[in-house]
Amino acid sequence: MDVGPEPRLILLCGLPGSGKTTLAKRLANEMPAVRLCPDEWMADLGVDLFDDRTRDRLEMRFWRHAQELLQLGLTVILEFGFWARSERDAKRLSARALGVPVELHYLSASIDELCHRLEARNTAGECDTAPITREMLQEYAPLFEAPSDDELGLFDAPTGQRG
Ligand SMILES: Nc1ncnc2c1ncn2[C@@H]1O[C@H](COP(=O)(O)OP(=O)(O)O)[C@@H](O)[C@H]1O
Ligand SMILES: [Mg+2]
Repeated sequence: MDVGPEPRLILLCGLPGSGKTTLAKRLANEMPAVRLCPDEWMADLGVDLFDDRTRDRLEMRFWRHAQELLQLGLTVILEFGFWARSERDAKRLSARALGVPVELHYLSASIDELCHRLEARNTAGECDTAPITREMLQEYAPLFEAPSDDELGLFDAPTGQRG
């Protein structure tokens, strides 16, 4: 039986519009990996994308599923946004306890650039994405704890040094 590449956990961190889903789709193809995207599942299940309680519950359920997939030898990409350092710490420590490497990809862009991208996405009418406005982004930005270089250094290097 072929032994595939070592499974790893990949965390995608960034505000709405930073490019998490775009990168996740590319990595999922290249690696390959299983992508777990709350927005897509909530939209498909008919759940309001701004229902934070359901989002939290879904992310907890995804995490249990992710651990099962990792134990089966699959690589998993979590598109949760990971705004809080504490969330990233928890996932890093859990992955290490499972014995799998863990990558943190931080996607950063200015508010103007995020607005520009989200306007284009909203116009394109992708139904599995939340319609985020400039006002919402301005509210979110101070809540987002950007990872420092020191924190990024705590994670494993991406395989093949992808971006
Ligand atoms: N690196 C990038 N440069 C410019 N535009 C991008 C980039 N990554 C994604 N986009 C575009 O920006 C929009 C938001 O990207 P998306 O992947 O949906 O972000 P997120 O999942 O973080 O909300 C999409 O229309 C996408 O095509
Ligand atoms: Mg997305």
